[in-house]
Amino acid sequence: MDKIIVKGGTPLDGEIEISGAKNACLALMPAALLTEKPLTLLNTPRLSDIKTMIDLLHSLGCEVATMKEESVIVISSGKNTKNIALYDIVRKMRASILVLGPLLARFGKAKVSLPGGCAIGARPVDIHLDALKKMGASMNLKDGYIYASSKKGLNAINYKFPFVSVGATANIIMASALANGQTILENCAKEPEISDLCRCLNSMGAKIEGIGGSKIKINGVNELNGTTHNVIIDRIEMGTYMLAPIIAGGKIKIKNGKKEIMGSFISNLIDLGANVDFQKNGIEVSSPSNKIKPIEIMTEPFPGFPTDLQAQMMSVLTLADGVSKIEEKIFENRFMHAPELIRMGANISLDGRVATIKGVKEIIGAPVMATDLRASVSLILAGLAASGETILSRVYHLDRGYECLEQKLTACGAHIKRVKQ
Ligand code: EPZ
Repeated sequence: MDKIIVKGGTPLDGEIEISGAKNACLALMPAALLTEKPLTLLNTPRLSDIKTMIDLLHSLGCEVATMKEESVIVISSGKNTKNIALYDIVRKMRASILVLGPLLARFGKAKVSLPGGCAIGARPVDIHLDALKKMGASMNLKDGYIYASSKKGLNAINYKFPFVSVGATANIIMASALANGQTILENCAKEPEISDLCRCLNSMGAKIEGIGGSKIKINGVNELNGTTHNVIIDRIEMGTYMLAPIIAGGKIKIKNGKKEIMGSFISNLIDLGANVDFQKNGIEVSSPSNKIKPIEIMTEPFPGFPTDLQAQMMSVLTLADGVSKIEEKIFENRFMHAPELIRMGANISLDGRVATIKGVKEIIGAPVMATDLRASVSLILAGLAASGETILSRVYHLDRGYECLEQKLTACGAHIKRVKQ
């Protein structure tokens, strides 16, 4: 298994191009199941999660072609599309559940493995199933699979999500696109990836109103067409690289950065004491004083502080001038990076979903282990600031969500390399 070695202590100075959003793609790709016409996605990132979704769509009988070094994906799901999503693939990636709504809407039948939990939490799919049942689907859980059918098609519903769920919002919007009548969904996730999905569905002929808001109306249509859709940039990758010069010193310009997809995050950077300069050819983040101010944050649905940037922010706060607090309100077990940061000399105490981080003067490079995708990149950020070498193992976690990370950081002066084991 590969390892990544980071030699810390060098302030950063360079520019980074952000890739297409993993979590937008993982919702957009299953949308191809809603039509037999080809769906072409541009600006797709080369990530293992995207490959897993391609494998899943292949297993469902879809034709999937990738071009231009996998930055273009063309998906066609013909009449002979199968509707069984096998455990072997689904267990690798929870987003696989996003084929359920489209399969039911288009074919009236689906057998999809329950995704099971992951390192950061149990991550049930009860809301997905509850909404689909209310749309008229019958649901049976047997031997780890969801057996769903809706022979007469899905019925439009008025449904208020019991709490904000990105995946459930995506699944039910896709299911509603072909349902009979007008569906009104309330308490929807407002993440930019959901808006990107809605825009793509509308360009396929769907009739979705209220994009970007918590109340979304979908007037079901009989069939959808293909389209070509440009995937939005990845706001979590962007936020990760905006934090890098704050922990390591120096500056980084995000060449294709977009402020509007970052919600409240940019104000958190200012609170840390960083400079954020909106220039005509990008957004530059610098750390003028090399001092990091302590802050208190809690993770929330968009536009609040993203849970997917919590681990990265914790790394930065290990070197703050004072005591910071992070409350993780979305997932029940998303502090696994904390023990690894403590091994590097951080002073972190955990009490349930609250982490208290007492800033220290320096952190020391050490062999550390990635436990999940965002934890892995938080340890790389820590390595950039640590004295000595940090050796990260289990980098397959990192490869799920960060395209060409070593190359992007090396171009900004970081001493980082991958060692093939
Ligand atoms: C999406 O996961 C993202 N993944 C996650 O990113 C992200 O952390 C999460 O949204 C929150 O923003 C993709 O988009 C592929 P949820 P999702 O449904 O849809 C509970 C990353 O690092 N819940 O919004 O699975 C759930 O357990 C990944 O890129 C139920 O209880 O998240 C969680 O506690 C990690 N029942 C909370 O809701 C349900 O039916 C929010 O989950 C659904 C969710």
